[in-house]
Amino acid sequence: MSSLREEIEILKKEKQAVILAHYYVPDEVQEIADYTGDSFYLSKVAKETDAKILVFAGVSFMGESAQILNPEKKVLLPDPTADCAMAHMADVEKIKAMKESDPELAVVCYINSTAELKRYSDVCVTSANAVKVVKALPNQRIYFIPDQHLGSFVAAQVPEKEIILGDGYCPVHHQMTAEEVLSAKEAHPDALVFVHPECPKEVVDLADYAGSTSGIIKAAAESDAGEFLIGTETGVMYELKKQNPDKKFYPIQKEQCCHDMKKVTLEKIRDCLRDESNEVQVDAEVSEKAKHAMEQMLKLAK
Ligand code: 13P
Ligand code: SF4
Repeated sequence: MSSLREEIEILKKEKQAVILAHYYVPDEVQEIADYTGDSFYLSKVAKETDAKILVFAGVSFMGESAQILNPEKKVLLPDPTADCAMAHMADVEKIKAMKESDPELAVVCYINSTAELKRYSDVCVTSANAVKVVKALPNQRIYFIPDQHLGSFVAAQVPEKEIILGDGYCPVHHQMTAEEVLSAKEAHPDALVFVHPECPKEVVDLADYAGSTSGIIKAAAESDAGEFLIGTETGVMYELKKQNPDKKFYPIQKEQCCHDMKKVTLEKIRDCLRDESNEVQVDAEVSEKAKHAMEQMLKLAK
């Protein structure tokens, strides 16, 4: 064990802290985390843990979500500048106007969003539970923000509802194309194509499986196939290879990297734990309202 890792272990015990990591952070961070998972799993852990301090190895909306669900805990972000571009791609004034023009409308907000957007939403979703939550809502008309692609993935599976799409997108997944999938298939003709629903519809339509990061990992472990083309951020390869050492995984294209997730390093984890710095702060009123949307998700996704 390197001394940096030892320092983190000692600090964790001393401060009764746990490290939560998303599948997109660097391999060495996933390796030392107490909990690694997709956004839904990490929200449940954040809600249930007895730890005093939560170090969130991920981007800022994840730290904010953990803080909202657990306001009495200290949530630390190793790098507070690690942000998700999509989390800002919706507009509060537009949400208000939509709700005003149709009081029956439900605003469904992907967890990849700021606390301010969650505050004006009726319910949150993650990619692992979006279909289930939208189906369970009593509302017929849904305004789905910010991700247009996850929104259209849900709309295809819940045709009985009218889903109005926001115009946000994840820059990492949005740029994948059908041509790239087809040329990757040509290079690896025996591989199955597994993608995240943040990819455009033309990519999802060519996939053998589309789901959250944990969904992709589970489906790959359960599959009899030996090769896979993966259409999501490449951090997920760490867990895929760990669980399936005999299977082969290839990214669909070369740009599948979320540079913000890669800002999380062991050094920054050690520093924020040691100094108890970079504590996530969410305004109490915003937090209270955003918490309602997050708890609705946890209830409806059960
Ligand atoms: P999931 O791990 O919940 O599938 O989310 C993907 C993502 O983009 C997180 O930023
Ligand atoms: Fe946001 Fe995309 Fe990065 Fe996920 S991969 S944190 S959605 S920018």
